Amino acid sequence: MPTQQSSALPDFLYGTAWKEERTPALTELALRTGFRGIDTANQRRHYFEAGVGQGLAAAYRAGVVARADLFLQTKFTYRPGQDHRLPYDPKASLSVQVAQSMASSLEHLGTDYLDSYVLHGPASGYGWTDADSEVWEAMMKERDAGRTRLLGVSNVSVRYLEQMEAAGAEIPAFVQNRCYARLGWDRDVRQFCRERKIIYQGFSLLTANVEVVRHPLVSELAARVNATSAQLVFSFARAVGMLPLTGTSDAEHMKQDLASVDLEISPDAVRAIESLAG
Ligand SMILES: NC(=O)c1ccc[n+]([C@@H]2O[C@H](COP(=O)([O-])OP(=O)(O)OC[C@H]3O[C@@H](n4cnc5c(N)ncnc54)[C@H](OP(=O)(O)O)[C@@H]3O)[C@@H](O)[C@H]2O)c1
Repeated sequence: MPTQQSSALPDFLYGTAWKEERTPALTELALRTGFRGIDTANQRRHYFEAGVGQGLAAAYRAGVVARADLFLQTKFTYRPGQDHRLPYDPKASLSVQVAQSMASSLEHLGTDYLDSYVLHGPASGYGWTDADSEVWEAMMKERDAGRTRLLGVSNVSVRYLEQMEAAGAEIPAFVQNRCYARLGWDRDVRQFCRERKIIYQGFSLLTANVEVVRHPLVSELAARVNATSAQLVFSFARAVGMLPLTGTSDAEHMKQDLASVDLEISPDAVRAIESLAG
């Protein structure tokens, strides 16, 4: 088993999707700016995982961070979510695909362990299936072999999580979902997570909620604490127990997003934002 340092959970995850050839430089910049959590996926269609590895290597070389300071998270993505650039043999069984995808991720990221390995999405939109069960078992084997510390699932409904639990599957450490304000900021899933001490990771907090970011109430609440609306949304997310992701490609926004960790927002403001939509 590889020696693993248990990096504490960071306050923020830096999301590396859709950055293509800018991925190495933006990953390095995010680390230089202070991010210690990195989210990626072995899904070349939307992520350049090897580019994340290049950014990490540059930051290690420059002495910005060491592997043990970081929380590295990547994902296993089923064939339908991929394009032709597959990290596994599509003819192999799902368990073998998980093992191959994991081996490829570790190589891309230049590490012998992950902090979190996430099932990118269910095999079918209709609930927990035999395919998910096989993949989850294979992911648990990877965890038990020391190749990841923790496991997660993504893009799931509360029904899916209930079915997973009812099937006797091990409960994930993380749920990563697109968080829509109009769905009460994913209220049902967050409640399921809270009751089981699962950490809820919220993504697209800004892009999925443009109407909230632009809402006069949010601008006013932000101005009161001398922050931007984007910062307020991230701060709100943390106040209701989420671990937020940001997908920024902008140096100034990286700083602002990290600074939102120190924003103090009142319980009244949290309640107002929570009930703004949905
Ligand atoms: N599990 C999944 O299926 C899944 C799906 C999608 C995404 N994700 C993960 O979540 C990450 C984030 O997703 P996302 O990009 O949709 O999230 P996001 O952070 O809501 O959206 C990024 C957008 O917000 C802007 N932004 C960020 N900080 C800002 C600030 N302080 N002020 C103003 N604008 C700001 C960015 O513009 P600038 O670049 O100009 O700052 C960019 O246009 C992805 O990179 C990926 O790692 C996971």
